[in-house]
This record gives sequence, C-alpha cells and structure tokens, in this order.
Amino acid sequence: MEEAHHNIKQGVRLVSPSLLSADFGNLQRDIELLNRSECDWLHVDVMDGVFVPNISFGQPVIRHIRRHTSKPLDVHLMIVDPDRYIDSFKEVGADILTVHYEACNHLDRTLHAIKDKGMHAAVALNPHTPVLMLSDIIEVCDMVLIMSVNPGFGGQKFIEHTYEKVRQLRQLCQQCNAECLIEVDGGVNAQNAGKLFACGADVLVAGNAVFAAPDPLQAVHNIKCASEAD
Ligand code: DX5
Ligand code: ZN
Repeated sequence: MEEAHHNIKQGVRLVSPSLLSADFGNLQRDIELLNRSECDWLHVDVMDGVFVPNISFGQPVIRHIRRHTSKPLDVHLMIVDPDRYIDSFKEVGADILTVHYEACNHLDRTLHAIKDKGMHAAVALNPHTPVLMLSDIIEVCDMVLIMSVNPGFGGQKFIEHTYEKVRQLRQLCQQCNAECLIEVDGGVNAQNAGKLFACGADVLVAGNAVFAAPDPLQAVHNIKCASEAD
C-alpha cells in the first residue's frame, strides 16, 4: 500500500483555511496568499447540490489549486456516493479525503479504499449525528471532521453544542486508543478557536474568518495562536 506522504499527529494546532470563501476569479492570487501564511493545509469544499443544497466545484478546479501550492489539500466531499470518485480525487492531488458519515452505506469499505490510494481517510459528521455512531469505525479513521454548521455554505453561525461533541470524540479516541485527528468546520474564528483547541480539536477550518478579514495572514495567525480566553 502506498503511504500518505504527509504525517499527521494529534496534539498540534493546525489551521486549514477554506477556499470556498476565496475569490474564485482570483484563486491563484488567494492560494499564493495562503502559501505565505502560517496555515498548515488548504481546505477544499466539494458540493454536489444533492447531499447539500449548494454546488461548488470539482476535480478540474482542484487540479489547478494543486499546481499553486505544496501545502496538503484537505478535501471535504459533501457529495452522495463518494466511492465513485476516490480515484479521481487522488489523481488531482488530494492528500486528505473526507467523506460524510451520512453519505456512505459502507463506510468501512470507503475508508479503506481511500487509504489504499495513499490518502488520509476522514469522516465528517453533520450537526445532528452523534459521535457515538463512530464507535465501531474510529480505529479506521485518520481524522474525524465535526461540522459546526449545517454544511452547504460559508459564513454561518457556529453551533455551540460542538464543544461537547469535540470532548466526546476526544474521549472515544482515548478509550479506543485511536490516533485520529479531530477537525472542526464551520463558523470558526479567533474567538472560539482557543476553546476548540482546549476541548481537543487538532485542526480548525476557517473560511469567512480568514478571507473576510482585513489581513488574512493575521487572521490565520490569530486562529492558530488563540487562547481560551479570547
Ligand atoms: C461548509 C463548509 C465549510 C465552510 C466553512 O459547508 O464545509 O468548510 O467553507 O466556512 P466558514 O468558516 O465561513 O463557516
Ligand atoms: Zn468544509
């Protein structure tokens, strides 16, 4: 089996800005901006208009994103039946591939298929899906993404119950001795980032908080270094 080339480990504060909030007319410029920032990954949201009520972009655009950065591409698939496209997302340069729990009938098979392609395999949970649904699969997950908004759009309000879900997931990982990362996505900003890291999050996605900021590089820094009191 081919090994994913980016090491990922718990306990580090990673920031993964979401390109959904970038200027699509100036994508190269915005990617180059992120290349100069302290961000660790680039978060790439793929929406099919079926699993979520919005359509974003697909493989041809990701191929171009890949050409302009050497940072890992953290690809979040909000699509039905993602098994159909695992090979093609690998081919265009995905490093971490996240599928939704709610979109997979055979999650164990899907995660193994992603790993067999040499990518890190992650599962996303919608706000209504309890963490305990992962208890029989957690050992296979390289990462779990907790949605802190209903997926589909950037710029929504953070759901407060997320803190509790992050704690529960951290506990589940400990109980199972699972080395899986915890990522939080939706409404993240410098005000809630410190508490999310303190609850056990390893990776924070931020779209609006980075791209709508007067200084996106400073915004990435502020999320990465946020204290609980911020
Ligand atoms: C929402 C996407 C998120 C979104 C986050 O469905 O999965 O990645 O871009 O954007 P903000 O940080 O603006 O909520
Ligand atoms: Zn996302």
